[in-house]
Amino acid sequence: MSLLIKGGVIVTASDIYQGDVFVDGERISAIGIDLDMPADRVIDAAGKYLFPGGIDVHTHLDMPFGGTKSADDFESGTIAAAHGGTTTIVDFAIQYKGQTLHHAWETWMQKADGKAAIDYGFHMIITDLSDQVEQEMDALVRQGVTSFKLFMAYPGVFMLDDASILRALLRTGKNGGTICMHAENGGVIDVLVQKALAQGKTAPKYHALTRPARAEAEATHRAIALAEIADVPVYIVHLSAAEALEMVTEARDRGLPAFAETCPQYLFLSYDNYEEPGFEGAKYVMSPPLRARETQEQLWRGLAFNDLQVISTDHCPFCMKEQKELGSSDFSKIPNGAPGIETRMSLVYDGGVRTGRISLNRFVELTSASPARIFGLFPKKGTIAPGSDADIVIFDPEKRVTLSVKTLHMQVDYNPYEGREVTGATDTVISRGRVIVDAGKFTGRAGGGAFLRRSTR
Ligand code: URP
Ligand code: ZN
Ligand code: ZN
Repeated sequence: MSLLIKGGVIVTASDIYQGDVFVDGERISAIGIDLDMPADRVIDAAGKYLFPGGIDVHTHLDMPFGGTKSADDFESGTIAAAHGGTTTIVDFAIQYKGQTLHHAWETWMQKADGKAAIDYGFHMIITDLSDQVEQEMDALVRQGVTSFKLFMAYPGVFMLDDASILRALLRTGKNGGTICMHAENGGVIDVLVQKALAQGKTAPKYHALTRPARAEAEATHRAIALAEIADVPVYIVHLSAAEALEMVTEARDRGLPAFAETCPQYLFLSYDNYEEPGFEGAKYVMSPPLRARETQEQLWRGLAFNDLQVISTDHCPFCMKEQKELGSSDFSKIPNGAPGIETRMSLVYDGGVRTGRISLNRFVELTSASPARIFGLFPKKGTIAPGSDADIVIFDPEKRVTLSVKTLHMQVDYNPYEGREVTGATDTVISRGRVIVDAGKFTGRAGGGAFLRRSTR
């Protein structure tokens, strides 16, 4: 199968130019002006942008959490991702206490197998670090699972102590892997949660009020300090607080390899959402929580000046009915997470590029090139270049869309951006040479995505 995409404006992290792209099989084979090559299909992209497929390095599909599991599996989640212009995800496999990493990896490979409609890789969440698990980290890196998520929050479930965190960091110094850190001080948060509940404070907003920005900043500082001691890079996931961003900025100014991502929810939503009437605030219960509205501009500045390198989604959807409802009389029982895999590209384009907060090149860098570089996928993914995978989003910068649970494809009964109008949306999406979204209609197939063995730093 060959494709000739004509007349679009090609945007990478470094270039913007008009040109034609020829796709032969799964890869881009030529880029030029007025290419005249026979192709099985010619796509007219005049007036549209061609972006490298979006890469979302933080998703939780089919993930058990708080007595339930995330509402999208690898089929529905990746189809929704494709609609939104994302062609690669890196999801999280979880090692539960007493289990091997290998068991966790096999479990998550089975969840994705035959279901994922786009390409996927895995980070490994380590909750129990023994000598044997350290050896397994090396084996996983060799198998292409080159990053590990550690939690400084959720004591008794996911949280690792500082000694284990340091050991894991030191190990990645030898095996070339990357540690991704959930940076919130879990012990402190637990005390605040118990205190609030004892005072009868059970509403969703207390989720945010018991997870202060300083608890995120303290853990971010500690994560970076431990990585500095181990002399390895560290990547802070889902950074939400200005105080935490200050810690990353300070470290980067000292020349340390500290990296961080934020997510659209922290750029477009705020603490005010927890004050919505009744139990509505549960829609936004996620960790870290939404912050004060002023934080949004500080995060945008961090994105523009490269103190933040990636925008991922932390897509972890739970329906209001029967799932978020588990915490209707106790906020600490509300499953943590919100949907976002489908809305990232449009939200960031509309709220970032159209407002002038970030350039078009920076948009591509944050949503595709930089996650590809940090997580060992570049230049196979993350750019439009001869030899790269033909993962291409044909994006209509003038298309107006109203975000709504009625039209989006995520399998969840609400949308945090309900009714928000955005300008700029995906038209056609190509994944390794296959048209998987054609003028807004899904034409791919469950199981069409492949597991990605990622490389090391
Ligand atoms: O609330 C969140 N973020 N849920 C997903 C799990 C995590 O910590 O990323
Ligand atoms: Zn997390
Ligand atoms: Zn997450």
